[in-house]
Parts: sequence; C-alpha cells; structure tokens
Amino acid sequence: MGSTLLVNLSYIVASILFIFGLKLLSHPETARRGNLLSAVGMLIAIVFTLFDQAIVDFKWIAIGIAIGGGVGALAATRVAMTSMPEMVALLNGFGGIASLLVGWAALGDGSMPGFTLLTIYLSILIGGVTFTGSLVAWGKLSERMPGRPIQFAGQKVVNSAILAAIVLCGVMFVVNPGASAWLYLAILLAVVLGVLAVIPIGGADMPVVISLLNSYSGLAACAAGFAINNNVLIVAGALVGASGIILTNIMCKAMNRSLSNVLFSGFGSVKQSAIAIEGEVKPLSASDAYSILEAAHTVALIPGYGMAVAQAQHTVKELQQLLENNGAEVIYGIHPVAGRMPGHMNVLLAEADVSYDLLLEMDAINPRMETVDVAIVIGANDVVNPAAREMEGSPIYGMPIINVDKARTVFVLKRSMASGFAGVDNPLFFKDNTRMIFGDAKETLSHLVREFGDS
Ligand code: TAP
Repeated sequence: MGSTLLVNLSYIVASILFIFGLKLLSHPETARRGNLLSAVGMLIAIVFTLFDQAIVDFKWIAIGIAIGGGVGALAATRVAMTSMPEMVALLNGFGGIASLLVGWAALGDGSMPGFTLLTIYLSILIGGVTFTGSLVAWGKLSERMPGRPIQFAGQKVVNSAILAAIVLCGVMFVVNPGASAWLYLAILLAVVLGVLAVIPIGGADMPVVISLLNSYSGLAACAAGFAINNNVLIVAGALVGASGIILTNIMCKAMNRSLSNVLFSGFGSVKQSAIAIEGEVKPLSASDAYSILEAAHTVALIPGYGMAVAQAQHTVKELQQLLENNGAEVIYGIHPVAGRMPGHMNVLLAEADVSYDLLLEMDAINPRMETVDVAIVIGANDVVNPAAREMEGSPIYGMPIINVDKARTVFVLKRSMASGFAGVDNPLFFKDNTRMIFGDAKETLSHLVREFGDS
C-alpha cells in the first residue's frame, strides 16, 4: 500500500512537471527549460513505476530501455534538421504500436469489467490506425512513396464501411471477450484504415496529418493507461492528445483550411487551373543586389523551407549584423507554416542566435510591409505567394501570407522558377518590384556578406 501511495504521488509530481513543461514550450526563450522539465517528469514517472510491485521481471525492462534508448539516441543525433518531421512521424507510429501491444497484453483471459475491455479495444484500435497512418505519412514525407494524393472511386464509402465494421467488432468483443476472432479482425481493419485514411492526403499536408496522428497516439496511450490502470499514462496521453489537436488546429488556421478539407479534399491532386500570370522575370546579380541593400533603411528577411535546405541561417545572421552596422533596421517575418514543421524557422534562427525580439509574426509584419525598403525572401515560396490573396481560382486562395510584394523592392533567393510544396505558381516572381537572385540561398547570402566586408 505504501509503495502504491508513493508511486501515485510521484505520478502527480510528474504530471505537474508535464503541464508546466508544456506551458514553457509555448515560447522559444523558455522552450528548452520546458523540454527539460518534462523530461525530468518522465524520468520520475519511469523510476517510480519500477517500484511498483506489479513489475515481475526487470530483465525485459532493462533490455527494452537499452535497445529503445540506443536506437532513439542514434537516430536523434543523426537526423538532419530537414528530416525532423519524418522522424516525428515514425515516433508517433511507434507510440501507436506500443499502445496496441500494451492493450493487447493487458487483455489476458478477458475476465475484466466491460469498461476496461472497451479501453483495451480503443488502445488497440487507435494504436493500429496511428501505426500504419504514421508509416504512410513517413513514406510520403521521405519520398519513399508518391507524395500526391492517392484516390480511387468509392474511397470514402470503403473507409466508412471499415469504420462501421470496427464499431461492430468492438461491440462483439466487449460482449464476448473470449471470442478473440473479433479482436483480430478489428486489428486488421484498424491497420488497413490507417493506410487508407492517409493515402488520399497530399504530401504538402503531411505536417498537419502528423500532428493529428500525434494526437491519436496520445489518445491511444490514454486508453492504454485505463486498460492497465496507470494514472500517469492516462494523464500524459491526454496531454499529448489535447496538444496535438490544438497544434493541428493552429496549422489549419494558418493555411485557412478546415481539418476536413485537409483530410478529405485530396489537396494537390488537381493541378492549378491555367491562371495567366502577367509580367516578366527580372534576374539580378548578387553584386547589384548589394548596391540596393547598401542604401536600404529597413530590411525584412522572410525565411522559408529553402533556408533550411541551404542551412543558411548563420549566413542570414551575418548579413543581418552587417546591415545593422550599415545603419539599417532589420526585422524577420515568420509565417506559422514556413518550412516543414511548426516553429521550423524559429528553431533554425535560434540556432544562429538571432534575437527573438526581431522575429515578427505575420500579423505584426504585414502592416509594416509598405515601409520596408527591401524584403529578402530566403527560400520561401508558398508563404509569400500573392495568388493566395489575388487569384480566386488558385488552390491556395484564402491562405494568409506575408505580403512581401507590398515592400518597395523584393529580392527572391531561390535556385529556379520551381513552385513550392503546394505546387502552385507564384505571381510574386513576375511583379515589377521583384528581382530574382537565382542560386543556392547560402551562396547568394555569402556573396552579399563578402560585398559588405569588401566595402
Ligand atoms: P515552399 O513553398 O515549400 O518553397 C520552398 C522554396 O525553397 C522552393 O520553391 C525552392 O525553390 C526553394 N529552395 C529549396 N532549396 C533551396 C536552396 N538550397 N536555396 C534557395 N532556395 C531553395 O516553402 P515555404 O514558403 O516555407 O512554405 C511551406 C510550405 O509547406 C507551405 O505550402 C505550407 O503550407 C506547407 N506546410 C508547412 C507546414 C509547417 S508546419 N511548416 C505544415 C503544413 C504544410 P527552388 O527549388 O527553385 O530553389
């Protein structure tokens, strides 16, 4: 009894640390502390769980920690920053399969109350959907499978029929837990549903799907917590479930789309209707760009996915300092879905020690854009695409963007005229006040930095 009390007290402490950790994660300045606090909470939860009398064999736990911890540490140190969303997708999938296995193992001979059976069923079911759904998301993001939406006639009907069959299996399982065939059938249907639910969603929407699957993995863990009567798993699962759905909602809002539009519209399957874009492309050399920049009083830097690809964040910071030394005011415009994961730009710029005060969100920088002398777009495309504002037929029409085209002059740093992740042409490149500086973003920025150094 004494040890149970101690374990439960430790769970309360761990839960409090998780909640404060999450709170601190909401600001870049406190995020590291938040991460540490949550990790300490998790350590406390694990150590005290080991005191639980229910544990019979430490050997398997030690083997699990060694293998899982080893693989996790290796993967985390090796993963490139640009592949982080893929890694998160895989981790969600592992969370899902873990809940499935925990729920299954908790079943025993099935002699338990109906509520426990229901939670076992839910942990297995949601865990199964999360597992295969996450694997498909990982495959699409890592381009191991086609990123385009894969659709077929009657897809929604098939998915709805599978869902109905899963509910039916659930009823049969809870009523008669001894008949394991219902459970096996449900597991099969759940893993198939995970695949079918994610394949019709385009690669550009994968970060939203991953966040949603993250939420599912939390719900599965929460259900597994009920199944094995573990309070901290219930709390941690609920926190993951809730924060995942909040993040999903934030991303949908930033793209001006509903969750059902993301999940069911097959965004990206229909190519942009031929909207005529007028104007001509005006390339500029880095040396000529320098002459304009030297005279600028206000410069806005707008990073996007290309900055991450070029790993240009340190050179961006160098240019910022040189511009400031030259008497210019420099601000950054950060779009909530720039890059490939939430906070992608903030993380990269923090790595280069860019002050948080200079990072302005879309709503803060847009009203100032008309007073900006030069807006430098560094490998961003969709998040600065004025088609979202001006072209009703465009697939991204309605998405809030950073209005760089309202600045006096716009430099776009990218390698070609290729479209961004959404696959939509960008009229910004053809505007009168836009100059295209072709090449790798880091190389172009280094060139500008050298010009400032030589002056
Ligand atoms: P994108 O629209 O994907 O454009 C990135 C651009 O970077 C490309 O057009 C590419 O052009 C350029 N680029 C690539 N490598 C480069 C390099 N080495 N040097 C210079 N340029 C390079 O990026 P974005 O504006 O950041 O928009 C993000 C997209 O992801 C949006 O469609 C958004 O909806 C989607 N998305 C993001 C999230 C999150 S959470 N971030 C979530 C869901 C969806 P070149 O090939 O010509 O160089």
